[in-house]
Amino acid sequence: MTDLSTKYMGLALRNPLVASPSPLSHTLDGIRRLADGGVGAVVMFSLFEEQLRERAVRTSRLVDDPAESFPEALDYFPAMVEEDPGPRGYLDLLERAVATVDVPVIASLNGISPEAWADYARAMQEAGAAAIELNIYYLPADPEISGPDVEQRHVDVFQRVKAAVTVPVAVKLKPYFSSPGAIALRLDEAGADGLVLFNRFLYPDIDLDDLAVRPMVDLSSPADARISRTWIALLRGKVRASLAATTGVEVPGDLVRYLLAGADVVMTTSALLRHGPEYATELLDGLSSWMSYKGFETVDELRGMLSAPDISDRAAYERAGYVTAMRAANAGGYAPW
Ligand SMILES: Cc1cc2nc3c(=O)[nH]c(=O)nc-3n(C[C@H](O)[C@H](O)[C@H](O)COP(=O)(O)O)c2cc1C
Repeated sequence: MTDLSTKYMGLALRNPLVASPSPLSHTLDGIRRLADGGVGAVVMFSLFEEQLRERAVRTSRLVDDPAESFPEALDYFPAMVEEDPGPRGYLDLLERAVATVDVPVIASLNGISPEAWADYARAMQEAGAAAIELNIYYLPADPEISGPDVEQRHVDVFQRVKAAVTVPVAVKLKPYFSSPGAIALRLDEAGADGLVLFNRFLYPDIDLDDLAVRPMVDLSSPADARISRTWIALLRGKVRASLAATTGVEVPGDLVRYLLAGADVVMTTSALLRHGPEYATELLDGLSSWMSYKGFETVDELRGMLSAPDISDRAAYERAGYVTAMRAANAGGYAPW
């Protein structure tokens, strides 16, 4: 009999599979289906800063000088938690979800500016969120913005939120840093309870018929998991924060690979969108069967077995993977680089 129970940011979970933010959590029924499907926790879809900002600007224009600028408009956010149907709707759903399902419900905030977040995070905590996940979805489109500026912004957003709540706070990162390990360490030192690696950025595509730029939302494939898995393997044992893997879980083996690399929990969206929330049961049954087959009784026994070796060898670990892959590709007759 395998025991899948585990901990994530201090929260006791019945298993390490977590539903990551997606439209599946837009309704109470969707959240219930996710929990019934067997996941250990649900992270709700994100409350987006842009929605709030638009509403804030509209509100400020209604009640004040029409020329009022954006920074002042941000002051309206706290009041809007009480009055605005957008955040209010999110908080209502969160409250009902917490009362309905028997797994932790984590709330998600998606934003880039530190000013906006503290009040919403506090309101999410009051609505019963077991934890807060910050999705700092920030593409520095202005080429004048430097790498250190981007990193500082992440730390600032995190610190504002962390100071406002007592529940655990996780940061969902993108992989596009010069040194993803360095920003992970900075956030860890700043007190992050969890690091979620990595978000998928959705880049637009160009429609050749209409000569237009189109937003694209595509689902992941298992190959997308390799970058997250590599960084989880590299960070395992180097940070105090829990490590959550996100991206590219399609079959039970993908879940197992992430745990072997060192993930505390493994998140999934694409697989549940493709196959339905009930597919979580299949993923978990597959995990249990693999564990029984290999003789593991608990998730702790296998977690991190294949994480990266000691710090002195880590660059070699990365480089060895690259060099071996290139040699194999060349030997296999792929086009020369
Ligand atoms: C349709 C869709 C909506 C998403 N919405 C959110 C969101 O609101 N907040 C967020 O942090 N991530 C969001 N994500 C990202 C997922 O939570 C997840 O991190 C990402 O899809 C990678 O995991 P996957 O490979 O299992 O899909 C969304 C993804 C998809 C496909």
